[in-house]
Amino acid sequence: MFDIRKKMRGNILNLAPYSTARDEYQGDIGVYLDANENPYENGYNRYPDPHQIELKKVIAESKGVNVDNIFVGNGSDEAIDLVFRVFCEPRLDNVVCIAPSYGMYKVSASINDVEVREVQLESDFSVDVTKLLSACDDATKAIFLCSPNNPTGNDIPRSVILEILEQFDGVVVVDEAYIDFSEQASLINDLDSYNNLIVLQTLSKAWGLAGLRLGLAFACEETITIMSRVKYPYNINVTTQSIVLEQLRESRGSQIAEIVSERKLLFAELNKLSIVKKVYPSSANFLLVEVDKPKSVYNSLIELGIIVRDRSSVIGCDGCLRITIGTPQENIMTLNSLKELSK
Ligand SMILES: Cc1ncc(COP(=O)(O)O)c(C=O)c1O
Repeated sequence: MFDIRKKMRGNILNLAPYSTARDEYQGDIGVYLDANENPYENGYNRYPDPHQIELKKVIAESKGVNVDNIFVGNGSDEAIDLVFRVFCEPRLDNVVCIAPSYGMYKVSASINDVEVREVQLESDFSVDVTKLLSACDDATKAIFLCSPNNPTGNDIPRSVILEILEQFDGVVVVDEAYIDFSEQASLINDLDSYNNLIVLQTLSKAWGLAGLRLGLAFACEETITIMSRVKYPYNINVTTQSIVLEQLRESRGSQIAEIVSERKLLFAELNKLSIVKKVYPSSANFLLVEVDKPKSVYNSLIELGIIVRDRSSVIGCDGCLRITIGTPQENIMTLNSLKELSK
């Protein structure tokens, strides 16, 4: 099997991580005078569990993966940044991303002084694997894929992702932030077969917990061990850990079903409007909609109190607005406003 450690930066492999007070004493009875905390209890005076043990157990059960294959981050943006810090030597290595896609891959790359090679999606937003792989060279450490992709909304077929995993001699990051809205299965069940696979998920979308900041990375044990050594020791605060624990025990099935059915409804209705040139099929919780005069539609919607995302100047998304699926009432309001603008 692929030796993932050979792809990691030497200084990171040799890193002696910070040892917290809780790493040095793990029992749970006693008087804690080892972390310079304030001793007066208020619910927040103690540091959070740096290893998120309880949280990872519940995530492992709910996702059907081993705890050793889970990294918990302050949003999936933390995991994206860690991919660069663990695998990419600044100014020497590069990563390959699909375009258009989620903007943080490029931002994280710039922060880490790592070159990004963007490979434009085809006109139907599919990935040309040959084109993608030919953008890679010996210094390419990671390929970033996003499925369903933001802002285009389409899935990358499983067979395409597997082909890339088989052929690429480096890390393949598959960002599944919107996977719960898709009919396509997650790649987290393929971790045993591919130790160059990192799957990103988040509680910010289907779980409705964007404000708590909790992102997940699933990967082979070696990758998770090293990512966990590099992260800030207390990256997930006490409140987030405890609320997420509660929330994960509840089901989000009905909300997901409602958002998906609203997406289908909105897709059909938007297609009837004269102002709308094209609605792209979506497996996510948003629709990419090509309209006549996008900037003027965007501004008119703002005047009506509806804020969508103007993606019209993104290469490949000419003329497009990205509309998040709201509540049924919000969607009716958006639709009625666009109907008015179509007259
Ligand atoms: C594809 C994708 N990945 C990740 C994120 C960010 O997730 P998080 O809130 O967990 O940082 C977003 C947010 O819009 C996204 O579109």
